[in-house]
Amino acid sequence: MMTAAMTMRFAAVGAVALLLVGGCTADNCFFVEGEVYCDTCRAGFVTNVTTPIQGAKVRLECRHFMTAAGTVERSAENVTDAAGNYKIELKDNRGSEEVCAVRLLSSPVPGCTEIEKGRDSAPVTLVDAGLATKVRRASALGFLKAEPLPNCGKILSDLALSTGPSY
Ligand SMILES: *[C@@H]1O[C@H](CO)[C@@H](O)[C@H](O)[C@H]1NC(C)=O
Ligand SMILES: *[C@@H]1O[C@H](CO)[C@@H](O)[C@H](O)[C@H]1NC(C)=O
Repeated sequence: MMTAAMTMRFAAVGAVALLLVGGCTADNCFFVEGEVYCDTCRAGFVTNVTTPIQGAKVRLECRHFMTAAGTVERSAENVTDAAGNYKIELKDNRGSEEVCAVRLLSSPVPGCTEIEKGRDSAPVTLVDAGLATKVRRASALGFLKAEPLPNCGKILSDLALSTGPSY
């Protein structure tokens, strides 16, 4: 027989489930995805010896568009998985009212914890312009390895030869 307490508990679980589903419809909820890597050549870009960082902390920060350089109105954090990928859920997409970006916070990898200014954050486009997907992809963010790998000189010069100078 169901006691009153049990009924209450079931009702509570039901309400939570409804909140989760109801709070995440295509219109007002979205996911920001991206990856964090270790720039083992201090190259400033992804190379073939770039390695994913697991457990890197990132934060999605949103500001009102009128105060884009100012106060963070809301934020959410997460950490990367073994493949260096993270996913941050943000309910209530406010579209063009907000300017959001993902920012690097910390890396747990010894010797690869340096944040380079200019590559420490990636903007996130919220306005969906008819996009059906709820996923917003942020460009990859990297920490710099303190000591570049020994073969980086060759890798970078081969890369420069194969792509040629860019004017
Ligand atoms: C953090 O990442 C995990 C794994 O992808 C996900 O299940 C969870 O919802 C995320 N947390 C937030 C606040 O987005
Ligand atoms: C990366 O590229 C360099 C130069 O093209 C090559 O010599 C090296 O073997 C590559 N390393 C890996 C791990 O693929």
